[in-house]
Amino acid sequence: MATNPIPQFPAGFLWGVSTSAHQIEGAADEREPSVWDTFTAEPGTVKDGSTAAVACDHYHRYREDVALLAGLGVGAYRFSISWPRVNAPKGLDFYDRLVDELCAAGVRPVPTLFHWDLPVALDWLDRDTAARFAEHVSVVAERLGDRVQKWITINEPAEHTLLGHALGTHAPGKRLLFDALPVAHHQLLAHGLAVRALRAAGATDIGIANSHGPTWPASREQADMEAADFYDVLLNRLFADPVLLGRYPEGIGELMPGAPEDVETDLKAISEPLDFYGVNYYAPTRVGAPQGTEIEFGGVRMPAELPFSVREIEDVPTTDFGWPVVPEGLTELLTGFRERYGDRLPPIVITENGCSYEGVDDQQRIAYLDGHLRALHRAVEAGVDVRGYFVWSLLDNFEWAEGYARRFGLVHVDYDTLARTPKASYGWLRDVLRAQG
Ligand code: NOJ
Repeated sequence: MATNPIPQFPAGFLWGVSTSAHQIEGAADEREPSVWDTFTAEPGTVKDGSTAAVACDHYHRYREDVALLAGLGVGAYRFSISWPRVNAPKGLDFYDRLVDELCAAGVRPVPTLFHWDLPVALDWLDRDTAARFAEHVSVVAERLGDRVQKWITINEPAEHTLLGHALGTHAPGKRLLFDALPVAHHQLLAHGLAVRALRAAGATDIGIANSHGPTWPASREQADMEAADFYDVLLNRLFADPVLLGRYPEGIGELMPGAPEDVETDLKAISEPLDFYGVNYYAPTRVGAPQGTEIEFGGVRMPAELPFSVREIEDVPTTDFGWPVVPEGLTELLTGFRERYGDRLPPIVITENGCSYEGVDDQQRIAYLDGHLRALHRAVEAGVDVRGYFVWSLLDNFEWAEGYARRFGLVHVDYDTLARTPKASYGWLRDVLRAQG
């Protein structure tokens, strides 16, 4: 097993772990329904037929979970605030208690304000949802802003657009293909308006959590290169360029809803300067020209009509989910970001990184995290300003359309008894954090 110490990260580096409300809280009857409740009620949407009605029952066991955070020695905890819970009576009280418990344990709360669990009455195809989100954010900031310094607006709008609205494998289950693009624009606008709402409430440390990974063309053939470039535009640049540069990648802005001058005005909000840029990194993607057949990839059915096809990355280990393990992809991603965005790039925080493996003696997770921390350190050495790293996830949890079959936790959850058992990786990370000071 990896025994060399992890190189020392800069002073003040923020170490944390991440979760999200719908994936861990449970207590579904103590909040309003979200699009994920209606989606999972449909047969065939979740592989093991499960729902998140109970999940890890974190809503009732948050004290135990905060104690696990304290035992791990992390400086911060990234969780999400469920909008449907805030809409229910006493819903916001829960986050009040959680934030108090975290502060008492010396763990900095880092809430994400939207992590896919949209109230059922709302729809990201409607522009108005962005304004409604900003109002919601004001209410939350008003209540928690005295104890929360660091905020994340929205999580992975790319996946929520692609899986939820273009391919329909996530809630709300829409299969609109390219007609899903307004969903991206409205989420980005929601992000921008939320930044303004947070600033108006006095917040000074604000970021977004976008998923990114290098796109590797299947070959140097032109058709593969073009398909890979297009994939990179859709999954990476479509979400980073508007936020960091205030514009859409070429050819995309025209596809967004509204008159060009309105899109321009929206982009002013979308590109409000950020205090940090959150990156969720899991793996690179190999992409080639379309193959004309529907394929299943990493748990997602890719329709034949897409102008690209996702291919296997050969000769690398994979997680139990089948995702390739490529730590150097993280170095490549971050140095590439630094090149593309230059001085427009705020300090980076890795807001998610992790893997799904079975078992409590999870040596493979240790190897994954060890490799990625070294790769992250190489990016720091190459001059990328990285200020923090959050492991996905504290607990095994409801992995969306995969149900409970994929286990990403540093802590094992027995879904019959809800007992928590720290895995080997939990002890390993605790020791790494001690050594980092
Ligand atoms: C990204 C998402 O933000 C999170 O909800 C999910 O569980 C992990 N990736 C793993 O797939």
